[in-house]
Amino acid sequence: MVSPKLAIVSALTLLPFLFINKSDAASYYPSGLHGASAEVTPFASQRVNLSVYYASLSQPSATFIVKNLEEIFHSDLINIINLQLVPWANAYVNKTNQSIICQNGPDECELNSLETCALNVWNDVSKHYALIYCFEFLAIEGRHKNWQDCFSQLDLPEEPVLNCYIGGNGTEIGQKYINETAPLEFLPLVIVNNQSVGKEYENFTRYVCEAYRGTPVPAVCNATFIRNGWREEEHFGESSSEKAQNLVEQLTFIVIMVLELAQNVARDNKKTRIVPRHIQLAVRNDEELSKLHGDVTIANGGIMPNIHNLLLPKKVVAHPRMLVLMMTLKY
Ligand SMILES: *[C@@H]1O[C@H](CO)[C@@H](O)[C@H](O)[C@H]1NC(C)=O
Ligand SMILES: *[C@@H]1O[C@H](CO)[C@@H](O)[C@H](O)[C@H]1NC(C)=O
Ligand SMILES: *[C@@H]1O[C@H](CO)[C@@H](O)[C@H](O)[C@H]1NC(C)=O
Ligand SMILES: *[C@@H]1O[C@H](CO)[C@@H](O)[C@H](O)[C@H]1NC(C)=O
Ligand SMILES: *[C@@H]1O[C@H](CO)[C@@H](O)[C@H](O)[C@H]1NC(C)=O
Ligand SMILES: *[C@@H]1O[C@H](CO)[C@@H](O)[C@H](O)[C@H]1NC(C)=O
Ligand SMILES: *[C@@H]1O[C@H](CO)[C@@H](O)[C@H](O)[C@H]1NC(C)=O
Ligand SMILES: *[C@@H]1O[C@H](CO)[C@@H](O)[C@H](O)[C@H]1NC(C)=O
Repeated sequence: MVSPKLAIVSALTLLPFLFINKSDAASYYPSGLHGASAEVTPFASQRVNLSVYYASLSQPSATFIVKNLEEIFHSDLINIINLQLVPWANAYVNKTNQSIICQNGPDECELNSLETCALNVWNDVSKHYALIYCFEFLAIEGRHKNWQDCFSQLDLPEEPVLNCYIGGNGTEIGQKYINETAPLEFLPLVIVNNQSVGKEYENFTRYVCEAYRGTPVPAVCNATFIRNGWREEEHFGESSSEKAQNLVEQLTFIVIMVLELAQNVARDNKKTRIVPRHIQLAVRNDEELSKLHGDVTIANGGIMPNIHNLLLPKKVVAHPRMLVLMMTLKY
């Protein structure tokens, strides 16, 4: 028999994926472009080279990777880009004992090394980016020491990356990068086809679109979208079926959120089965969910204790795919 917890974990892992695929199709193409003409599969030679030189614990780098770079995976931009991530920016090798010194200390060297290993082990950009995204997300929150959680949360195998890391290949490759890269004035350094975008790295998509010579042009590169900010397009000319789709997506999201919180409560109470009481505690202890469910009675949920707040989980440990999901919905 499948345990309820396992079933919920599977649902949590699968749903956002289904959701993201659907939303890619529904929301990131302008209406009327759903047909074959929207397919962007350029010749390899037409792809735009996008290189990002960064350091794992530099906050601007982490923010860029989590917030800005993530956009290319929500649009058809990823299809026209060769993405090259280069950790180790502004690290240097101490010639006396050949050890690498990182600007933000030994933790940064460790994370750079792990990310180098992910890049080396998985050619597939969606795999290595997912892991690096998770690491950098933790770095923003100051929880980078929990990097090991990322493997289980993303359902990626830990072993190949750890073998590379423990074997020292991450730092060995790092030395090569360091040898080839001059110290940088600021991070991240974003290069589009051999041209630095300078401090405008947040607007790198514009440079990518300008550099792209292939046809058809990806929808996000449409001048209208660039001018208005391409996320606006979600609300513009939305058909009723798209509105329905969005509603379904938002409801799915709320269900996942409630389940995840309830699961945490159940786990904290050493239970493997979620009962209405756990849902009650989860919903009432989350400010936004509580507001949303203000008039809702959760059957058999019991009443809220006033003294037990300290015993409850402080904050949702968000699932990386959920975060991707939240971003999709927020914009
Ligand atoms: C390099 O390492 C040596 C030996 O540990 C140390 O004495 C020296 O200060 C280091 N130099 C730099 C620039 O970090
Ligand atoms: C090299 O020197 C640095 C100090 O500059 C020290 O932190 C590091 O542990 C040394 N590495 C080795 C392998 O001795
Ligand atoms: C580490 O690098 C060596 C050679 O550079 C290679 O033979 C080995 O397979 C690598 N190990 C891992 C775990 O990537
Ligand atoms: C990096 O450069 C140093 C000399 O500056 C050299 O000794 C070392 O072998 C180089 N490492 C790699 C991996 O290229
Ligand atoms: C992109 O990089 C590849 C490999 O490094 C290179 O062969 C190609 O010419 C580059 N493309 C452009 C447009 O710079
Ligand atoms: C890229 O720029 C470097 C120097 O900045 C230059 O040597 C190289 O030829 C350029 N490559 C291309 C494909 O333009
Ligand atoms: C990005 O582009 C927008 C609109 O063109 C502009 O207002 C903003 O200043 C740019 N950001 C940076 C960092 O240059
Ligand atoms: C760009 O946007 C305009 C206005 O929304 C639309 O008419 C046009 O077909 C779009 N072009 C492409 C290539 O997506």
